[in-house]
Amino acid sequence: MPQPPRPSSSSLFRRKPMDAAPEDSGLKRVLGPATLVALGVGATIGAGLFSLTGIAAGDNAGPAVTLSYIIAAIACGFAGLCYSELAGMIPVAGSAYSYAYVTMGELIAWIIGWDLVLEYAVGAATVSVSWSGYVTSLLAGWGIHLPARFTASPFQTVHLADGSTASGIANVPAAFIIILVSLLLIRGTSASAKVNAVIVALKLSVIAAFIGFGIPWIDTANYHPFIPPNEGTFGHFGFSGVMRAAGTIFFAYIGFDALSTAAQETRNPKRDIPIGILGSLAICALAYVTFSFVLTGIVNYADMAGDPAPVATAIDRTHITWLQIAIKFGIIGGFTSVLLMLLLGQSRVFFAMSRDGLLPALFSRTHARFHTPWLSNLFFMVLTGLLAAFLPIAELGHMTSIGTLLAFIIVCVGVLVLRRQAPDAERKFRVAGGPIIPLAGILSCLVVMVSLDGLTWLRLFVWLGIGLGVYFLYGRQKSRLAGAD
Ligand code: ALA
Repeated sequence: MPQPPRPSSSSLFRRKPMDAAPEDSGLKRVLGPATLVALGVGATIGAGLFSLTGIAAGDNAGPAVTLSYIIAAIACGFAGLCYSELAGMIPVAGSAYSYAYVTMGELIAWIIGWDLVLEYAVGAATVSVSWSGYVTSLLAGWGIHLPARFTASPFQTVHLADGSTASGIANVPAAFIIILVSLLLIRGTSASAKVNAVIVALKLSVIAAFIGFGIPWIDTANYHPFIPPNEGTFGHFGFSGVMRAAGTIFFAYIGFDALSTAAQETRNPKRDIPIGILGSLAICALAYVTFSFVLTGIVNYADMAGDPAPVATAIDRTHITWLQIAIKFGIIGGFTSVLLMLLLGQSRVFFAMSRDGLLPALFSRTHARFHTPWLSNLFFMVLTGLLAAFLPIAELGHMTSIGTLLAFIIVCVGVLVLRRQAPDAERKFRVAGGPIIPLAGILSCLVVMVSLDGLTWLRLFVWLGIGLGVYFLYGRQKSRLAGAD
């Protein structure tokens, strides 16, 4: 008989038993490899590609942002394999949080659950700011000019109609889309595989159209220098800039990890979950590298710094009016699946933490009619809406990236820990090569993480510090495992 890890109830490292997954039982095994790849692509392509590419090129890497996309893809690939192994062993809704609870105990699980707010809620805020940029640009093309100061955060400078500049007040469209998607979630949405297939087709068409129609507008002078020389500080061009850009655009790959929560709904998880994760990653990486190469060929990197809608800027240069409208529409529509995935992921993680007693019951209370965790959705609607309204996209994106990288590292560590704790437990999928892939995952994510700026690190520590405070004041006593002490 394989021996699952023994739960311990008395320490900070008390662990849940591996088979503690009652909330997800009864799901039908309907998903096959193609649907999984489509789900992964639908959850992944969004603001990272359409907004952060320009910012990373303009501020950090120049045209070499294409290299940054390759580097980030490699780190994600290793982490994706580790996600697959854990998903096949601990198929529960809370993703990295639940894996950590079983493998490394309550404190680490708490830290990761708290950290996932950065991936999901802050990630959703980032996408909404990008959405706002494209909506503003689309409306401007129709002669409708939203008041500039109400489409930007107070940290940004906007150009007013009279030619003067001022700082923004609040990004109202960004908050608006967060409210809309949150209400949709409360109402209950099971975005069907068919709807997802349409959205994926839409996104891939946008990318294909941009590449196809954009190539003739490339000015090869924009590729020189391919890696602009470093400007004297770490992360501002040169090789360190390529690495920092990898940290920024890492955001673009977030989403495929959501597939790991689908293990119980997959016909043949051993084969199909890795195919889904690696397949969607490969498609995204190919699309991102090609897309960013064309984008940096059309618009000089120096013109892209701080522009939340660089694709709109690039496509406006083609003067093909129908294409301008079609691409902006496609981008705006395509963002919805990412926003839904992120806000849904957020409520699932807090649902699991609340069920475990680490967070108040309001996060797992469901609506009598809609059966959704509506109070949790409302809570994050307000929190995420405020972030979206008052913070600029680059800061939000960096926080999301660093938070997700930390989650990925913990997942890779979890694989190593569980191989020691439960060497004989059933693994529906096992990463080949012994510890090599998990170690490579830890190392590559760490390298990308340390390339991010000091302020982002400081914010991460502050956020985790607040989280520890909440844990020691609340979760530690209220934990369901505490009852067994
Ligand atoms: N990868 C998702 C995006 O780029 C989060 O929008």
